[in-house]
Amino acid sequence: MVLIKGLVIFILCTALLVQSEKDDWWKSATIYQIAPLSFKDTTGDGKGDIQGIISKLDYLVDTGIDVILLSPFFQSNMVDFAYDISNYIEVDSTFGTMKDVEELFTKAKAKGLKVILDFVPNHTSNKHEWFIKSEVETDGYKDFYIWHDGHKQINEGRNLPPNSWQSEYGGSSWTWSPMREAYYYHKFAKEQPDLNLGEELVIQKLNEVLKFWLDKGADGFRVDAVSQLFEDPAFLEVPDKANDLPQTYELIERWRKFLDDYSKNESKILIPQVWNAPIDDLMRYYVSEDGTPRAQVPMNFMLINELNKDSTASDYKRVIEKYLSSLPTGAIANWFLGSHDHNRVASRMGRDRIDGLMILLQTLPGISFTYYGDEIGMEDHMDISWDDTKDIQACNADKDSYQPLSRDVARTPFQWDKSENSGFTSGKSWLPVHPGYVENNLESQMSVNNSHYALFKELTKLRKNSTFAFGDIEIKALGNNTLAYARTYDQSSFLVVINLGNATEDVDASQFKVKLNERSKIRVAATNSKHEIGEIVNLSNLHLTPYDAIIIDYYSSATKVTLSLLAVMMIIVKIFL
Ligand code: GLC
Repeated sequence: MVLIKGLVIFILCTALLVQSEKDDWWKSATIYQIAPLSFKDTTGDGKGDIQGIISKLDYLVDTGIDVILLSPFFQSNMVDFAYDISNYIEVDSTFGTMKDVEELFTKAKAKGLKVILDFVPNHTSNKHEWFIKSEVETDGYKDFYIWHDGHKQINEGRNLPPNSWQSEYGGSSWTWSPMREAYYYHKFAKEQPDLNLGEELVIQKLNEVLKFWLDKGADGFRVDAVSQLFEDPAFLEVPDKANDLPQTYELIERWRKFLDDYSKNESKILIPQVWNAPIDDLMRYYVSEDGTPRAQVPMNFMLINELNKDSTASDYKRVIEKYLSSLPTGAIANWFLGSHDHNRVASRMGRDRIDGLMILLQTLPGISFTYYGDEIGMEDHMDISWDDTKDIQACNADKDSYQPLSRDVARTPFQWDKSENSGFTSGKSWLPVHPGYVENNLESQMSVNNSHYALFKELTKLRKNSTFAFGDIEIKALGNNTLAYARTYDQSSFLVVINLGNATEDVDASQFKVKLNERSKIRVAATNSKHEIGEIVNLSNLHLTPYDAIIIDYYSSATKVTLSLLAVMMIIVKIFL
């Protein structure tokens, strides 16, 4: 009897443990970034919309996505891909209505998908009511933005800008307002004036925005341009520090508390966009020195910023270990290989590496972020003409120099099928569809077993395994180009082996701390792999053709028996309780 009681308690504790891991829904989530403008158009105006996203929810669930991260769909002047917001709590008519967004929340949640929104606190559109009021110095709004008289000129005329700081999109980051006779600061385009986040009233207004969307059902927020939220208050020509100023961390701490206070039962997450901070600065976004929580997921762009086509396996190992070993205790890792600001991974790193890199993204510890279209290996559209160019960063350049600056290349419509405009729109697409869509589209990949998409789906399924979700990692460079790592949790282990190079490599993959079973089988293989799923591999002499990538599964029969027994017992307990 005592034995049975003990067993029941043990089983219940195990169940609770599993449950509490599940409650932290974000800790090993597969997050998928959707740029609404380019995902799916349902009205025929050539621009993606909220109903388009709703129509693809089943696709996302079927693909194994846990969370959708939506780039801005708020009222905007559309100068910067909707990142110039003129009303934070209205839906831009380009995308639909508030009712559509409510429907999206309801339907996504019913299907078990979490929804994260893009919160843009660094700047508004110059058409935002706050800016319009600030420019004419309306009571209460005077200091909502960063205004400066500039330096008096000896001769008559407009003052000189406060300093020579340059905006991200070219030209001075100060624009003269003839109306207010002062300069306003903008880190990005002149149509995106920076909010004055040192002003308490501004923070309060932004908190109202957060509350508004939390009430609608948001599960968290990407926080745009966080590194740039504050500027050197003295506006020194060469400031001590230009990004990630101390006030930024305090504000993130405040917003974290705001979210935690709002929702006691379920985490609402903060995902600050930290552009290219030194590792220590990046880590500071997780937690303060005295242990106060900050963001759960400061974006980690290191795989993008620090690796390129020429990187060797040792480079990958170094970058991954540098990040993982810097994480504060208990912090959750996250990984990006693409976003609306970067060239597509298939183009940046080479089309042949897409499978290996998707395997990497989905099997490293923590959260994976997938940019829409990367699941089918979409590539940059390098031939967008000057006339078709929409990205402000490119438009601010000229006909001869816009191309390398343009982010449009990675923002083209999702390639759904081979019909006209890739099934994205029945109208004229706002950006030209990548010409390769006829061969490379979701429908054609779905019609075969061996495709980037099939692999991706297999990976999202595999990631749900506790070993990938919570397991340890041991990384090795097995050859010049062969990166390998063992993921281990409890008695289960997987070995990921990726040849990043264009040459064959024969490697010894038997030297990990976790001893893999000699009869370990291949669980997943890249589309071009010569290895077969289910094949038993010889770990001490593993033959990898160029760009080969495989996941080897070591799941001892002993573990299997224990777990099956546990499952049976849990069912019995359930019946009796
Ligand atoms: C962020 C966004 C980028 C945008 C900029 C200004 O960096 O990712 O797309 O242009 O902020 O909002």
